[in-house]
Amino acid sequence: MKSKFLLFLGISAIAFTLKGIYSIYQFTNDFKVEYITTHLTYHPEWDIPGQPSFNELKPLFIKPFKYLGKGGQAYAFESDDGKYVLKFVKFKFLQPRLKHQLISWIPFFEDWSINERERRLRKFNDFYLGYKQAFDINRLNSGLVYLHFNPTFSRFGSVELIDRKGLKHLVDLDQTIFILQKKGEMLNDLLTRLLQQGDIKTAKAKIKAMLEMYVHHYKMGLHDLGYGVIHNTGFVEDLPIHVDLGKMTWDEEITIPKNYHADLHIVAGKIKEWMSHFYPALAQEFHQFIDQEVSLLTEAS
Ligand SMILES: Nc1ncnc2c1ncn2[C@@H]1O[C@H](COP(=O)(O)OP(=O)(O)O)[C@@H](O)[C@H]1O
Ligand SMILES: [Mg+2]
Repeated sequence: MKSKFLLFLGISAIAFTLKGIYSIYQFTNDFKVEYITTHLTYHPEWDIPGQPSFNELKPLFIKPFKYLGKGGQAYAFESDDGKYVLKFVKFKFLQPRLKHQLISWIPFFEDWSINERERRLRKFNDFYLGYKQAFDINRLNSGLVYLHFNPTFSRFGSVELIDRKGLKHLVDLDQTIFILQKKGEMLNDLLTRLLQQGDIKTAKAKIKAMLEMYVHHYKMGLHDLGYGVIHNTGFVEDLPIHVDLGKMTWDEEITIPKNYHADLHIVAGKIKEWMSHFYPALAQEFHQFIDQEVSLLTEAS
């Protein structure tokens, strides 16, 4: 009995130490310029017409941008005035990995590494298409200002980034893929703020506006396969925006009411789940409200 307890204690201590080392590793490796740079070359199809001139935007990059957040695909930094977000692709996911190299040495697995790289390039292309389609089809509700996917020369110059630890990094914007977007208040932050203030009426109005934005997108063929409504959407003042466009697709099928009704239920379900988790006392009232809004939006089409 005693030896079992000692074994359990030993395993727990090792697990705890490993977790600690991993957390320190993650914190110290949080951000490096090499994570957002790549050797991608010029692609004519990545030139995006109808963008603001770089002269208009250049003054924005005089002051440093501060770390704001990250997800699976991007790092986000906010401008000094808090109005813009500069987003960079996490190119770590495109870099060849030792694991894949090793696997490709096993007989019959020679193509593994090549296939893996192709899969990653496809992922990057989907990311690019998501932003481009949102920019072309509904720039307003994407908050997008500028997409820089091809290298440029002596246009934007460098920008200083300040990471989570306060460390400074200089990034040559001309040689880096970046996205400039308006900064929104994320839906989870907004709902939390409003519900803490007891402002149920405005919280409901924001949810209604967000569901309406989804329907507006469906009707234009925009379908988000990310389903991260709570963490990937927000508001710029009263305007709902879809912040994370990395999984946005264009799909004619989603314009068909039967299809988008089903999708709207999934999106609404995510907001309901969030309410149940964070505000259980208000969940029933909000679930009813959301169901009613979904019915109105689906009956109307
Ligand atoms: N325009 C924006 N306004 C406010 N916050 C943003 C904006 N863009 C990104 N963020 C923050 O950065 C995080 C990661 O950005 P996101 O576009 O979702 O990247 P990923 O595709 O990696 O999930 C978001 O969850 C959000 O917290
Ligand atoms: Mg995201």
